[in-house]
Amino acid sequence: MRKTFKRYLVTSALPYANGPIHLGHLAGVYVPSDIYTRYQRLRGRDIIHVCGSDEHGVPITLKARNEGVSPQDIVDRYHALNKKAFSDFGITFDIYSRTSNKVHSDTASEFFKKLYDEGKFIEKTTEQYYDEEAGSFLADRYITGTCPHCSNPGAYGDQCEQCGTSLSPMDLRDPVSRLSGSKPVVRKTKHWYLPLGQYEPWLKEWILEEHKEWKPNVYGQCKSWIDQGLNPRAVSRDLDWGVPVPVEGADGKVLYVWFDAPIGYISATRELTDDWEKYWKDDETRMIHFIGKDNIVFHCIIFPTMLKAEGTFILPDNVPANEFLNLENNKISTSRNWAVWLHEYLEDFPGKQDVMRYVLCANAPEAKDNDFTWKDFQNRNNNELVAILGNFVNRALVLTNKYYGGKVPAPAALNAYDKEVLGEISNIAGSVERSLENFRFREAVKLSMDLARLGNKYLADTEPWKVIKTDPERVQTILNIALQITANLTILMEPFLPFSMEKLRTFINLSDAGWESLGSADLLKPGHQLQKPELLFEKIEDEAITRQLDKLANSKSNGEGTHEVTPRKAEISFDDFSKMDIRTATILEAEKVPKTKKLIKMLVDTGIDKRTIVSGIAEYYDPEQLPGRQVCVLVNLAPRQIKGIDSQGMILLSENSDGQLYFVEPGKDAHNGAEVN
Ligand code: 2FM
Ligand code: ZN
Repeated sequence: MRKTFKRYLVTSALPYANGPIHLGHLAGVYVPSDIYTRYQRLRGRDIIHVCGSDEHGVPITLKARNEGVSPQDIVDRYHALNKKAFSDFGITFDIYSRTSNKVHSDTASEFFKKLYDEGKFIEKTTEQYYDEEAGSFLADRYITGTCPHCSNPGAYGDQCEQCGTSLSPMDLRDPVSRLSGSKPVVRKTKHWYLPLGQYEPWLKEWILEEHKEWKPNVYGQCKSWIDQGLNPRAVSRDLDWGVPVPVEGADGKVLYVWFDAPIGYISATRELTDDWEKYWKDDETRMIHFIGKDNIVFHCIIFPTMLKAEGTFILPDNVPANEFLNLENNKISTSRNWAVWLHEYLEDFPGKQDVMRYVLCANAPEAKDNDFTWKDFQNRNNNELVAILGNFVNRALVLTNKYYGGKVPAPAALNAYDKEVLGEISNIAGSVERSLENFRFREAVKLSMDLARLGNKYLADTEPWKVIKTDPERVQTILNIALQITANLTILMEPFLPFSMEKLRTFINLSDAGWESLGSADLLKPGHQLQKPELLFEKIEDEAITRQLDKLANSKSNGEGTHEVTPRKAEISFDDFSKMDIRTATILEAEKVPKTKKLIKMLVDTGIDKRTIVSGIAEYYDPEQLPGRQVCVLVNLAPRQIKGIDSQGMILLSENSDGQLYFVEPGKDAHNGAEVN
């Protein structure tokens, strides 16, 4: 039996305040969380929805350095921009807080202090990279180098974006400081670690046994993390931006951003209400985290372990994480400027929040990555919002105005078809409700549109505009039913299309009707006066779409100019260079390495020999396309084991402006074994 809950605590991932909100954020997190929250509010549940800016972490300090301003300047700018954009877009947070405020540093410090005092951390002194020129330790993204797994030369200290592996700076080969471009030295430093391994049996039980209902993408990721074994995780960093580690002897150290950020949900609740503990410490509260897939491990494993270790907090009951939204067939990327920014959308399409909300929900990346295209946006607006919903509502209202001066007509006797149609309203509402309860938002919005479809079909079948000449009494019934459907739509579609449904409620003078009224054939009483209607949605012309596509094309070419370029590596001599033996070669065979996303194993003819090389290119090349292709190979690189395969050498790759990797190709008519230098 599922537990019943008294109240709901909905959290939406705190976006980093180092850039604007884009469509990927909205589709992944904020549109679903807002739909869910609005729906539960309509049901009259006790629910709060908390969010805010995540204002710590290395990317923010790097951006500040680049711009020559302080990190606080950066977060002030984006906190204000994003808070306003969310609000203008109709995302109804009960609070949009920020992690640079005092409530938060107090809350996060207390949390750390409690775990520290109770001996829940491991204290370890380890060797970390240090930049002597900049006088600073190099945490996370302050350092780049070559990935030990896929040889990507641009891997960061916390992650290789090419093969997706999480790294620690010590894993990188040929590390370089991003502060000065110099080669870092190693220094000892002390940090605190959360011993995740100790919680493994509990995590197994709690997630793998007790939360089998979590979405397959979420459950699967948790399982694979747990199966791989959980290591202690450092929860502090040597940085000067963040919440200071609140213990003696921790000068120059702050809490790791992923330790303090989720505590931000707690601080936001504290800031919102003095009664915050009932949301966090009473197990009759149902906590739900809305996040994107890159946040799964933090919300399903690390934060719950922190909460468990602390001991007085509840745990999330569900974490309905979404996959990623692509844009016009390319990964959305802030650094490459490949994105549709929310604040710009709001300027370019004033009053059309609901169109975007609808499209992002109808096409949400719930089970797999999905693509947003402007053409689809236009089609869904013109063929669904305008042609189905808008058209139905408009016909019902215009005819009522025309025949009855805008007064709801009294129904006469209902025939079987009328009864069937009225009965269908509750059925549809019931299905929408089930989908929403189970976080299936795409299905829910599609089902809710079925009610407008039903209305359209009812009018098309009953033809009141013809019948008015022969049987005016019958038309009273038909329009009464069409108006009851309209009134039901304003409730059913409110979570998805809040702006339009509010407008529609003013057209029909319906003030407060909650979810429990759904299915009623009596929402509008006979004689009730309606307002003069306007169109709910308007067609979007090709021109507007072309403008957006042009804008994207331009931003991309601008983006190229502002590409993040890693600093120059330390100088080498010509001798160093000539140690590298690079040859032209031909790929003979290629196959994907099982159980990996990115790796392809190849047999390559280097002219010297035939050998096996593993490379992280499966996202960019199909193995079948590879045999016969000429490439450049570093042939005297020491062999390395990659996923148990002996990889002998490295194929040279370069990145294009989409972030995809391409072979560096030999010149025309190269023969295998020709030297490249
Ligand atoms: O991935 C991100 O954008 C993070 N800023 C999300 C943080 S969610 C929570 F833990 F605060
Ligand atoms: Zn890698």
